[in-house]
Amino acid sequence: MSKVKAAVFASGTGSNFQAIIEDKTLPCEVVLLVCDRPSAPVIAKAQRQGIKTFVFSAKDYESKEAYEQEIVDVLKRNEIEWVFLAGYMRLLGQTMLDAYEGKILNIHPSLLPAFPGKDSIARAFEAGVAETGVTVHYVDGGMDTGPVIAQEVVEVLPGDPLESLEARIHEVEHRLYPKVIKELLQK
Ligand code: GRF
Repeated sequence: MSKVKAAVFASGTGSNFQAIIEDKTLPCEVVLLVCDRPSAPVIAKAQRQGIKTFVFSAKDYESKEAYEQEIVDVLKRNEIEWVFLAGYMRLLGQTMLDAYEGKILNIHPSLLPAFPGKDSIARAFEAGVAETGVTVHYVDGGMDTGPVIAQEVVEVLPGDPLESLEARIHEVEHRLYPKVIKELLQK
C-alpha cells in the first residue's frame, strides 16, 4: 500500500528535513520540499534524495495570498495530505491554513509558550533559564502559538556554552519530530 504523502516547508539548513526523510518507519512519504529561499542548503539535500522542490521568492508575488495559492495548487497536484514546517521562516496565511486545517505541524526549539519566534535558543540561554527544550505543535496563524502536541525538556547545564546547548536541542529535534509524526499519523 502506498504511503500518505507529505511536504516539508523549510527555509534554511534542513537538518530536520533530513531527519524526517531518513526515518523509513514513518507512515508517510515526503515527496515535496517547499522553500522560500533560493539559496537555502535544504534544496540540495532534497535534490540529492530525488525529492521534488518548489522554490519561490515572496517578492515575486503580489501578496501572501498569491504565493500561498500557488503553493496550495502544487500541494494538491502532488496529492499532499500533511505539511511539516521545519525552519520555515514565514507565518502561514489563511489560504494555507484553510486548505490544510489540522494537518500542519511545526517544530520549535523552546518550551512554548516560552521564547516563540526567532533565536529562541540564544534568548533562553541569555535569560538564564535552568531548562528549555523542544516543542512540536499544530500550526495556526500566530507565531508559534498553535496547540502543543509534544514537548521534551533539555537542561541548561552550568558552564555549558551556547553552542553545546544548541547541539543538544537539535539532537532532540531530530529524534522528537519523526517520533511525533509517526505517532500522530498512526492514530
Ligand atoms: C530548528 O531549530 C527548528 O526548530 C526551527 O528552525 C530550525 C531549523 O533548523 N524552527 P534546520 O533547518 O532543520 O536545520
